[in-house]
Amino acid sequence: MVAERVVGPEEQLQEDGQELSLRPRRLFEYIGQEKIKDRVRVFIEAAKAREECLDHVLLYGPPGLGKTTLANIIASEMGVNIRVTSGPAIERPGDLASILTNLRKNDILFIDEIHRLNRTVEEVLYPAMEDFALDIVVGKGPSARTLRLSMPPFTLVGATTRPALLSSPLRDRFGDTFRLEYQEISAMKEIIVRAAGILQIDITGDGAYEIASRSRGTPRIANRLLRRVRDYAQVRADKVIDLDTAREALSRQGVDELGLDEIDRRLLHSIIENFDGGPVGLDTLAASTSEEADTVMDVYEPYLLLLGFIQRTPRGRIATRKAYAHLGRAYPEVTGPEQQAPLWDADDPEDE
Ligand SMILES: Nc1ncnc2c1ncn2[C@@H]1O[C@H](COP(=O)(O)OP(=O)(O)OP(=O)(O)O)[C@@H](O)[C@H]1O
Ligand SMILES: [Mg+2]
Repeated sequence: MVAERVVGPEEQLQEDGQELSLRPRRLFEYIGQEKIKDRVRVFIEAAKAREECLDHVLLYGPPGLGKTTLANIIASEMGVNIRVTSGPAIERPGDLASILTNLRKNDILFIDEIHRLNRTVEEVLYPAMEDFALDIVVGKGPSARTLRLSMPPFTLVGATTRPALLSSPLRDRFGDTFRLEYQEISAMKEIIVRAAGILQIDITGDGAYEIASRSRGTPRIANRLLRRVRDYAQVRADKVIDLDTAREALSRQGVDELGLDEIDRRLLHSIIENFDGGPVGLDTLAASTSEEADTVMDVYEPYLLLLGFIQRTPRGRIATRKAYAHLGRAYPEVTGPEQQAPLWDADDPEDE
């Protein structure tokens, strides 16, 4: 199961409360994502100066990078209430209408997984976002008419890991869009040091750096690895997390120096061993590792692409020289015509 991976970016069931205590509350506590923080600051100051509510914002990026955290921070920096819900939780238009009528002036409505809102619900959202109005149908049949109710101004903050799945009318109604990025190791280290402080864990700079470099640029994973290493350190004499402790604890968890786990390595091995380094089609690759194609694409691939271990080409996935090196394998220097063909990224025509 994906959710059980130590390096899985999704929140795991038992982590709910633990994450809450580590979640930054104010913008100054939010580490890294500097460009976004600058924009958020300007965005908030401008709204405050105009004495208006914030424009609607869409936050997107891979799981565990801090979308929910940022939504809450925006609310506290604005000094307004936040009402939290999610796409799948709003089943009928009436559910959304009742949430909207209960908002107070300038409140933030946070809709997580907003790409999972169904169409009929979305339609209630359009006039609300645009005109702060609710269109209610009264009566039935030929005598039915639409009543327009006005509602207090509010800010919609939407979050999604899959922006491409958002309908374009919905996307167009957001005034601003913030894309969260995988974090640099230096920022990750700071996040770990901060979390260790809150959890009262003794950690050295080297120890924090080691966990940071295995956390896949994802704060949620960093916090989880920190807790695992703490558990390991606790059963040892000194209880301090130093470089050796971090290394040992994480290797025991199957997490290597770059944060790859067994499944990542299996995927790379499969491309290299079963398909001579590729190209191999997504479906074939998924089948050879007994995973779903969607899971491979959404869960496993993003980090391998980020590391430059695989490339997506029009003919399939290719393992790069870096991947061979990481697995300690010799890169096949004598290549057939297949591999000498120019490679380009299917997603980026400019790369040709
Ligand atoms: N910039 C940051 N500084 C410090 N800690 C952070 C930062 N971003 C995220 N975190 C930590 O990572 C955890 C996960 O973040 P969050 O829940 O906001 O992610 P998310 O993007 O909403 O994920 P999902 O897509 O799964 O909903 C938080 O509980 C917080 O402790
Ligand atoms: Mg979230």
